[in-house]
Amino acid sequence: MSVAPATTKYPLTMRLLHWLIGILILGMIASGWYMHGLPDEEPLKEELYSLHKSFGITLLPLILIRLLVRLSSPIPELPPQMSWWEKVLSKLTHFLLYLLMFSIPLSGIIMMDYLGIFPLEWFGVFTMPDLIPDDMDMFEQLGEVHEILAYSLLGLILLHILGALKHRFMDKGKDTDVLKRMI
Ligand code: HEM
Ligand code: HEM
Repeated sequence: MSVAPATTKYPLTMRLLHWLIGILILGMIASGWYMHGLPDEEPLKEELYSLHKSFGITLLPLILIRLLVRLSSPIPELPPQMSWWEKVLSKLTHFLLYLLMFSIPLSGIIMMDYLGIFPLEWFGVFTMPDLIPDDMDMFEQLGEVHEILAYSLLGLILLHILGALKHRFMDKGKDTDVLKRMI
């Protein structure tokens, strides 16, 4: 990874992947929350679970591609006018966002492998191999982990958005608008 001046934009591929993955992840959190609350007899529930899992499986390689593009692209350095704690907070938030973007779909896939009852299908096109012996306890525990990680990600995304808006609208007289580098 090389560093570019703070005034340059993120490379186009990174900008496209940021917004595509961002929208998909917000959709995953919304669908997860909604489908979990539906009564079992609701016909939509099964359809939503299946879409949630297929989109979740799709996100894993997309996020991996994004990380590889990031590691091989020139990334604009943070504006020099940002204070040291804003830089630390921004870097820490981005690191945690990447960590959660990987661990949430992985926890979902492994959790379903432990359940074993339903074959894990990707949009009905292919079936993921069942690699781990079934274990109901592990399934339930990973379900909890999946939920905690997903809602932590939501909290972090809100912080991330608030940070971007603060730099755009509240940092008067400073050139710290990082949003224009991502659009
Ligand atoms: C970035 C990707 C993902 C995000 C952000 C995400 C988010 C969520 C959220 C917010 C919930 C609701 C939790 C609750 O309120 O109990 C949920 C539930 C669930 N997710 Fe995901 N998920 C992702 C990927 C996956 C994947 C890849 C799978 C499986 C292949 C999966 C399987 C499930 C299942 C089965 C539930 C329902 C658990 C239950 O009803 O107790 N998720 N997910
Ligand atoms: C309305 C929603 C969002 C806004 C306004 C926004 C804004 C931004 C901005 C301005 C940057 C660049 C920061 C910089 O130049 O240092 C950025 C980077 C980033 N955003 Fe977002 N974002 C949003 C949603 C999301 C979502 C949903 C995710 C996924 C969880 C996400 C993950 C990231 C990550 C990981 C980076 C770091 C990029 C890198 O350096 O590799 N963002 N975002």
